[in-house]
Amino acid sequence: TPLNRIRNFSIVAHIDHGKSTLADRLIQSTNTVSDRDMKEQLLDAMDIERERGITIKANTVRIEYKANDGEDYVLNLIDTPGHVDFAYEVSRSMRAVEGSLLVVDASQGVEAQTLANVYTAIEADHEIVPVLNKVDLPAAEPERVAEQIEDVIGIDASDACLISAKTGIGIPDVLEAIVNRLPPPHGGDPDAPLKAMLVDSWYDPYLGVVVLVRIMDGTLKKGDQIKMMQTGARYGVDRLGVFRPAMENVPALGPGEIGFLTASIKQVRDTKVGDTITHEKKGATEPLPGFKPSQPVVFCGLFPVDSAEFEDLRDAIEKLALNDASFSYEMETSAALGFGFRCGFLGLLHLEVIRDRIEREYNIELITTAPSVIYHIFMKDGSKLDLHNPADMPDPSTIDHIEEPRIKATILVPDDYLGDVLKLCQDRRGIQLDLTYAGSRAMVVYDLPLNEVVFDFYDRLKSVTKGYASFDYQMEGYREDSLVKMSILVNDEPVDALSTMVHRDRAEMRGRAMCEKLKDLIPRHMFKIPIQAAIGGKVIARETLSALRKDVTAKCYGGDATRKKKLLEKQKAGKKKMRQFGKVDIPQEAFISALKMD
Ligand code: GTP
Repeated sequence: TPLNRIRNFSIVAHIDHGKSTLADRLIQSTNTVSDRDMKEQLLDAMDIERERGITIKANTVRIEYKANDGEDYVLNLIDTPGHVDFAYEVSRSMRAVEGSLLVVDASQGVEAQTLANVYTAIEADHEIVPVLNKVDLPAAEPERVAEQIEDVIGIDASDACLISAKTGIGIPDVLEAIVNRLPPPHGGDPDAPLKAMLVDSWYDPYLGVVVLVRIMDGTLKKGDQIKMMQTGARYGVDRLGVFRPAMENVPALGPGEIGFLTASIKQVRDTKVGDTITHEKKGATEPLPGFKPSQPVVFCGLFPVDSAEFEDLRDAIEKLALNDASFSYEMETSAALGFGFRCGFLGLLHLEVIRDRIEREYNIELITTAPSVIYHIFMKDGSKLDLHNPADMPDPSTIDHIEEPRIKATILVPDDYLGDVLKLCQDRRGIQLDLTYAGSRAMVVYDLPLNEVVFDFYDRLKSVTKGYASFDYQMEGYREDSLVKMSILVNDEPVDALSTMVHRDRAEMRGRAMCEKLKDLIPRHMFKIPIQAAIGGKVIARETLSALRKDVTAKCYGGDATRKKKLLEKQKAGKKKMRQFGKVDIPQEAFISALKMD
């Protein structure tokens, strides 16, 4: 296809503003897929993605469109992940296309992820077409939202497309806008040495690793010997094709084109997003700029509730890692929890997705330990250590100082809830950087320690704003602070899985809160159980769980029978998920709940 007939684009939007619905519509209205095959939300392949309504894996589709000018065009849509954890993947996919549709829900307006994603698109030099979706809703205010786009983002929204991805209103305008307002791929010499950007990769049970590529220069053919410029790995191309959206083989891909290759690649780890693919012989000498490997930032331990399931867990983790290069793991042993794995994730959502998949797809009940970030520990002897796990904290007397990662968080919130948001950020050791208004919404920017955010910040934010706030963040680097390791002792035994890094000034408050929580979470035993929080050898908080005296159902006597039955059932279900520490049974749920701050 000649370059001037190709348009490569992505859709940027806040979650739920209708990105997937619009993609489905574009595919359907160009007859790319017959109606019979048309499944809703075609691009969101995995169950979990669908359930949570988020797009995790970048997908792509090639659409053929006959425009009003009578010419046939090839439109390549790259579907980008919509969540903050995947910021790097988003920025790479954006580099693979020349334009974006900026979808904004006309009944909601601009949100934090709209901003984060559109800035990534602007950084990638995209031409941007604003699209106001959901105009079918009575609450839609396209004029107000267009104005907001101009005010907040600073791009012209006077000729935004007004659409309803649900009913199909305005879809033909979007297709024409893609052809007329987005640029064709820049330059690109079919005879130059091959430079193809590795945009995404995933594991397919039948084909092995599938690699999504954008050809910048040169021509890639089936059978070619290729080389990954960052990893140095070499392969022979078995299969080359495009997604329509089903896989369709093609003999070659030229400049400006987007397609996939398979090459007997064993694991996704061997394919680094952002790497440059070239020919093994007469290849390019310089890779495409901007490659950076994605690094896990949040770590936690995953242990099987039933220690007999350790091998099953290993199997599950190895399989998941095959398909997810950004997830890292190593074996870990805990005095309290036995054998398990210390795992690294791109962020909290990533952690939750992996944990859910292990529990659901592999049917293994897990204990997840407190998420931790990477601390830089500077020792008195001049050496430096990266601490992923509070359990590995060296003796404090040997430490000179500790640095922790910080983020820059952007929060958009209706005026009414602003006070609560400021309080929440302040409570989490935040430093306010900016506060501006966009209509009746406030935009606050905070510098926050990542460790105060990884746990339940997002949940808290949603709850104090009744779901009206939106949130996004980026990493800002490391800063020194006064941090200590807090241990928890149950019945005088330290439970390593509950130890956390905290700020010295907050330690006592956090310790007290954790002890109180644990007192409620741990069932009473036949004996008295002290629950303590300690820093080094010094106890900073203490609760005592009194001994059990009567039958658990005793207090229900005289009450109704169903309540008693429920209580017994609950206890039975709870039993299964208990874990023994010394003489004390601690329910699985306690490990996560104890850390929540409210
Ligand atoms: P993520 O995949 O989570 O990023 O969300 P998304 O932006 O892809 O949103 P999605 O397409 O899943 O749409 C979110 C919800 O809005 C769904 O319930 C859609 O049915 C609904 N929706 C999408 N477009 C329209 C529209 O034009 N009008 C109305 N009324 N609802 C719409």
